[in-house]
Amino acid sequence: MTDTTGVRRPAPELVPERLTAPDPGWTTQADVVVIGSGIAGLTAALGIHAEDGGLKLLVVTKDVLNAGSTQWAQGGIAAALGPGDTPDQHERDTLVAGAGACDIEAVRALVTEGPDAVRELIALGTNFDHHPDGELSLTREGGHHRDRIAHAGGDATGAEIQRALIAAVERAPEIEVIQHALAVDLLLAADGGVAGVTLHVLGEGQRDGVGAVHCRAVVLASGGLGQVFSQSTNPTVSTGDGMAIALRAGAVLRDLEFVQFHPTVMYLGPDSQGQQPLISEAVRGEGAFLVDFEGARFMQGQHELADLAPRDVVAKAITRRMIETGHQHMWLDATHLGPEFWEKRFPTILAVCREHGVDPVTELIPVAPAQHYASGGVATDLYGRSSIAGLYATGEVACSGVHGANRLASNSLLEGLVFSRRIAEVLPGELRERVSAASDDRLAWLVAGSHRRDLQDVMTRQVGVLRNDAGLQRAMTYLHELEAGDAVPGTDAWETTNLLAISTALAQAAFIRTETRGSHWREDFPDRDERAGHIDSWLEGGLIRSRWIPSPSTDPSETPAEVIA
Ligand code: SIN
Repeated sequence: MTDTTGVRRPAPELVPERLTAPDPGWTTQADVVVIGSGIAGLTAALGIHAEDGGLKLLVVTKDVLNAGSTQWAQGGIAAALGPGDTPDQHERDTLVAGAGACDIEAVRALVTEGPDAVRELIALGTNFDHHPDGELSLTREGGHHRDRIAHAGGDATGAEIQRALIAAVERAPEIEVIQHALAVDLLLAADGGVAGVTLHVLGEGQRDGVGAVHCRAVVLASGGLGQVFSQSTNPTVSTGDGMAIALRAGAVLRDLEFVQFHPTVMYLGPDSQGQQPLISEAVRGEGAFLVDFEGARFMQGQHELADLAPRDVVAKAITRRMIETGHQHMWLDATHLGPEFWEKRFPTILAVCREHGVDPVTELIPVAPAQHYASGGVATDLYGRSSIAGLYATGEVACSGVHGANRLASNSLLEGLVFSRRIAEVLPGELRERVSAASDDRLAWLVAGSHRRDLQDVMTRQVGVLRNDAGLQRAMTYLHELEAGDAVPGTDAWETTNLLAISTALAQAAFIRTETRGSHWREDFPDRDERAGHIDSWLEGGLIRSRWIPSPSTDPSETPAEVIA
């Protein structure tokens, strides 16, 4: 029996190589385990099933099937589907937003396969919004020079996609689903490849507590890391588990420092913590605009697209104005849209604003940037393969290279869709033989859940939207010296330990990147380096190592943004 108590931080700077957990009390077998049940996970599962119906497929999800980030996506899904639009134009906007750090081949795959992938989603039963003449209704968001965002239920796009995908999985009973299952760690074979995964399951009959699934491949589709920060648009389940699991297993993480802060998150006061209400960029796409406390439209003159500039540009402009004026937020004015338009086009946002005492039909909405999306993650190739044999990653947990330093609005659902289809295309043909897990002497310990709030606070203040050398060093010192505390194995300690590992890698990558690029904003290095590069991070003997490597990107200056009417 594993000793599950009392292992404290062995030395400063180290992060656990394994989470302390009881020995597995149950075991089962599968060919493929998909971890996560948003658009990326369910698309991968359905695609693999369609390729080879004989494979035993298990989808595990930390909460219930629709508890992840997909459900919360408002704006929509971007694809060149409108009249006059082309994948080339979508590619150009993606590269410009990505600030020179995108991988061109990945972007090309995204934009060329995107339209068919969305059509497939429609064929699966997703009800996107249409005009009365039957044409798909497309809108615009920051950084797009065309109307190319398909949406559903006005501003409930993610929820509708999630509904359609869950219905499709329910029509395929061969795909087994385990809910309330937190993935703890990978089981590794002697060759370092995947042999299985350990899970902690709550209340699933015989499968209760920690168990082991022996399998031939694992697809990580577990979403982002929003809970590293005190305020995020991400749900509470987004604790970076997939990235931490991959890191501990020896996989390379890439560009973790490129954390996107959404410019218009409803400001609920200085003490508000956790998931915050998103005010979709689509509201600006439909004509809303930002104003300061004097009523000045401060985005005008800052960028050719003004209020619809790429997200990093708008988040920086709001932050600058907040610093200059000493205010905690700015304002979004959407009062001219009128009550009917609000009710039809943005019913979810309208209801949320009213719940918080603001009527956007007649009042300005207080907004401030908050964490929204991890553009980096587990480094993958064009088919979702990580650096570990048998481990794939897709969606927000992955860094496929499409987002570069700043994700273009509404490219996230599309990335999950396109790259999960790609995984499904290759995975059945390259499955490993079933192998046993090698004995595991990696050092296991935990951080107590009581540290979570402090950690989030430090990360928000020192590694947030505006960064500098001194703040990053303060954050790293805090993370390196954090005393583990009296950690009892369980969800709170496992998640907090994952947050420690991912925060450490993120702060270190942000420290090494001595330039300002996309969403990574250094006040002490305000310019962009001539050469774009990735920052890769990995674990070696409990120490997180990071290094800069030149990226095979295109420079957006070679693909200048055109204004297309
Ligand atoms: C939004 O609706 O503003 C968010 C969409 C996205 O993150 O792409």
